Amino acid sequence: VVFESSSAASKAAAKEIFRVITSKQSEHKHCVLGLATGSTPKALYAELVRMHKEEGLSFKNVISFNLDEYYPMEPDSIHSYHRFMNEVLFNHIDILPENVNIPDGLLSKEKISEYCNNYESKIEALGGIDLQILGIGGNGHIGFNESGSLQNSKTRLVALDHITRVAASGDFGGFDKTPRTAITIGVKKIMEAKQVLLMAWGEGKSNIIKRSVEETVSNQIPASFLQEHHNVTFIIDKAAASKL
Ligand code: GLP
Repeated sequence: VVFESSSAASKAAAKEIFRVITSKQSEHKHCVLGLATGSTPKALYAELVRMHKEEGLSFKNVISFNLDEYYPMEPDSIHSYHRFMNEVLFNHIDILPENVNIPDGLLSKEKISEYCNNYESKIEALGGIDLQILGIGGNGHIGFNESGSLQNSKTRLVALDHITRVAASGDFGGFDKTPRTAITIGVKKIMEAKQVLLMAWGEGKSNIIKRSVEETVSNQIPASFLQEHHNVTFIIDKAAASKL
């Protein structure tokens, strides 16, 4: 779906999340949201905060799982996705702290694989992700599933692509200070989500949007796997749609 602006698109995405959360509430069920970081979902989260404050949207039945976190990473570092999520969303809504899940960037190396398996088991025990929000990296990554990630890949520690580190280096004050690794939910759990909204704004994303949507499905562009998802919407602005 192509919108005039990223702000109109973000509002539409927020409306859909509102609908899913409240329909679960009316059934007295929890709602499992898969959440993304990056600049793309910021306006979406601001709109959800507004809906909470002005329209009474409650997140008390929401259990959230973030896609990824840099590794190693202190949760209160200005670069951490924990801190990002608290600042843009969690600090401003009524989600229960025990219902927030974000990959732990402080684990010792030996514990990562068991931790990742538990992260997935927790999602499975809740019946899977009801709605997954995604951004997209310039190389087509979803979460931190870089080029070469398999469609059945699991939650794991990954090496970040050079291009991803270059894109993040501005935030980290230089390429050498940019983390080399991250923990990410695998492609498999994303593909198992009942509904996926992928968002992208701006000319800079137009090429990868075209390739993800129009090229043959390939692990070189992990977002292209979504062509095989049964309920996915690409919510994009005119600029990101300009090469379709
Ligand atoms: C990061 C995140 C992704 C995000 C992507 C795009 O690498 N791990 O989840 O989708 O970057 O970022 P942005 O939204 O800032 O363009």
